[in-house]
Amino acid sequence: MISYKELGLVNSRELFAEAMKGGYAIPAYNFNNMEQLQAIISACVETKSPVILQVSSGARKYANQTLLRYMAQGAVAYAKELGCAIPIVLHLDHGDSFELCKNCIEYGFSSVMIDGSHLPYEENIALTRRVVEYAHQYDVTVEGELGVLAGVEDDVKADEHIYTQPDQVEDFVSRTGVDSLAISIGTSHGAYKFKPGQKTEIRLDILAEIEKRIPGFPIVLHGSSSVPQDIVAQINKYGGKLKDSIGIPEDQLRKAARSAVCKINIDSDGRLAMTAAVRKVFVEHPEEFDPRKYLGPAREMLKELYKHKIVNVLGSDNKVPC
Ligand code: G3H
Ligand code: 13P
Ligand code: ZN
Repeated sequence: MISYKELGLVNSRELFAEAMKGGYAIPAYNFNNMEQLQAIISACVETKSPVILQVSSGARKYANQTLLRYMAQGAVAYAKELGCAIPIVLHLDHGDSFELCKNCIEYGFSSVMIDGSHLPYEENIALTRRVVEYAHQYDVTVEGELGVLAGVEDDVKADEHIYTQPDQVEDFVSRTGVDSLAISIGTSHGAYKFKPGQKTEIRLDILAEIEKRIPGFPIVLHGSSSVPQDIVAQINKYGGKLKDSIGIPEDQLRKAARSAVCKINIDSDGRLAMTAAVRKVFVEHPEEFDPRKYLGPAREMLKELYKHKIVNVLGSDNKVPC
């Protein structure tokens, strides 16, 4: 058993309390490799933002969880070396079982998500409660979820959003003891969040209803990539074939971040940025075969994207005194 505290990581409790007071949201960026991690940390150091590093089950399979843990530990030292010891949370994204959450906690994660959103309500409560009881012994924070996002989530496919019911949130939060709650208000995972011609609006009215039921409680938004159209255009210009990819407008996320939303999850936009940069190098410099020559520009484009989100969407810049 390794405590995240020994690794220099923090849980999300303090960060969410500050975010709630300050009307901003903490960036939760997924990482699977070194370049993504470097981009995240340097973007957060340069903007003086706290950060949640998210590891999905897919990331654990792709990169090996031991390596990811050491990379997160390295990120703490890397941030200091870059000049600002920003608070870093290491978070399990979409944990689907008690065993997986327990394993991550034993490996040094400071926060876990137990996603029982696809289960019947009482089963979701029982599973979430079990994870909370275990995690809190080690001062690890837990995110639960109520409501189902449309699209594919944890291998479960939903054609329509099942919005979070405001009537359930108070009961869920008090009976599970979770530290934050992910809700479904019209966001979804991936790069196809709306159909062409569809109104690109999320249900901020449901968010407001939820806030009334659990005032001051940290809310999480998954599926919050904005799918920047200039990045999509760059991908397609250099041989990509992304059609009708649409994300969540940034102004709506900004409104959400000003409210009780304390954590905003962004993964797909980073994938798009890396792809756009790599495609450009491949087309413009077909003679290149050194991975640093295309992963370097990809890392740079990622960093700029992450900084833009922090400053213009989440509002988490200049929150770390350094
Ligand atoms: O919520 C999903 C995240 O974007 C992680 O995706 O499971 O493909 O790593 P992944
Ligand atoms: P996006 O696919 O919109 O980036 O959402 C990522 C996410 O919710 C990770 O949990
Ligand atoms: Zn998610």
